[in-house]
Amino acid sequence: MHINSKLPNVGTTIFTVMSALATEHKAVNLGQGFPDYPMSEELVALVNDVMKRGFNQYVPMQGYPPLREVLAEKIQSLYTTVVNPDTQITITPGGTYAIYTALTAVLQPGDEVIIFEPAYDSYIPNVEINGAVPVLIDLKFPDYKIDWGEVRQKLTPKTRMIMLNSPHNPTGAVLGEDDIKQLRSIVKDTNIFILSDEVYEHLVFDNVPHQSILRYPDLLERSFVCFSFGKVYHCTGWKLGYCVSAPEMMKEFRKVHQFNCFSCHTPSQVALATFIKNKDSYLSLGAFMQEKRDYFQQLMRQTKFTPLASHGSYFQLYKYDRISDEGDKDFAIRLTKEKAVATIPVSVFYKAGTDNKVIRFCFAKKKETLDAAVERLSKLNI
Ligand SMILES: Cc1ncc(COP(=O)(O)O)c(C=O)c1O
Repeated sequence: MHINSKLPNVGTTIFTVMSALATEHKAVNLGQGFPDYPMSEELVALVNDVMKRGFNQYVPMQGYPPLREVLAEKIQSLYTTVVNPDTQITITPGGTYAIYTALTAVLQPGDEVIIFEPAYDSYIPNVEINGAVPVLIDLKFPDYKIDWGEVRQKLTPKTRMIMLNSPHNPTGAVLGEDDIKQLRSIVKDTNIFILSDEVYEHLVFDNVPHQSILRYPDLLERSFVCFSFGKVYHCTGWKLGYCVSAPEMMKEFRKVHQFNCFSCHTPSQVALATFIKNKDSYLSLGAFMQEKRDYFQQLMRQTKFTPLASHGSYFQLYKYDRISDEGDKDFAIRLTKEKAVATIPVSVFYKAGTDNKVIRFCFAKKKETLDAAVERLSKLNI
């Protein structure tokens, strides 16, 4: 049977390749972005409890109502914006799904979508499968800021959406107030949608406020804002998240969602509805992850790697120019094979493979894991 592929350019991702290499070489895996420490025991106990109490059937398509209510309360308390839990929030099986659903709800063939690179690997395929066209703009190395002048130059009458990600994977960059100002002036009086990927919400360091689109009701009117419970509550395998949008946009989002997933895992939603009532469950997350960043950065001083700034997320980029002048893929593969430490080369987050000779480390790991990795890296003589 012949399939005329909708995604002819998509192959096996580097994450699969690096994870297989990591297993083969018994490497410490600082490549893929998932925690290796236990998630909250309290949350696990809550899920167990609600399952025993019989919360095991479908919830409404939009998500378990008390969870949406508690999220609306949280949004108001953090960002002062009032959102309606019935019409503006939908629970999804993860952030990636929320992004795909939002794009599928609004994109028409030939629409242009501005994507900043390096970019999370689902964005370009998600745009292309909808027949739309990615318009790629590089974030400016080495601090990975958006050049808004370049954004203005790339706007055309076909520009349908701008995709943002803060805190940013893979760079750990975050948007500032000035970025929001620029964004606002660019989209004003246009039909441009915004997709804001905020799956690392709360994981922002050094007391800098997270510039969520939810802070800005005028921007929320044209935005899909996507979140991930898995990423922030250290349970990536749960694949649960949510999307917040304007009521009319959310109607279209739900049309796609209801014939794809329909409703998400009930016990996790019921448990989260209780867990999130305690504000400390999310207010403590930034400091928790910052401590990991600082611990890792301090350890890495024993090595010849040079850090770039990480302001949020699970990740920090490091230059290796004092060790090697190899391309980043070759270097990362050799590091896995010879030193048994797996990382991700940043060039894989660019369609054109742009290589600034930096690799990504995930520091959302136990101290023992970070210790073991850095011990191997400090003995680098390659
Ligand atoms: C920027 C970004 N968006 C979305 C996701 C996916 O979130 P989820 O696991 O909830 O689908 C990830 C996961 O790595 C990510 O880094």
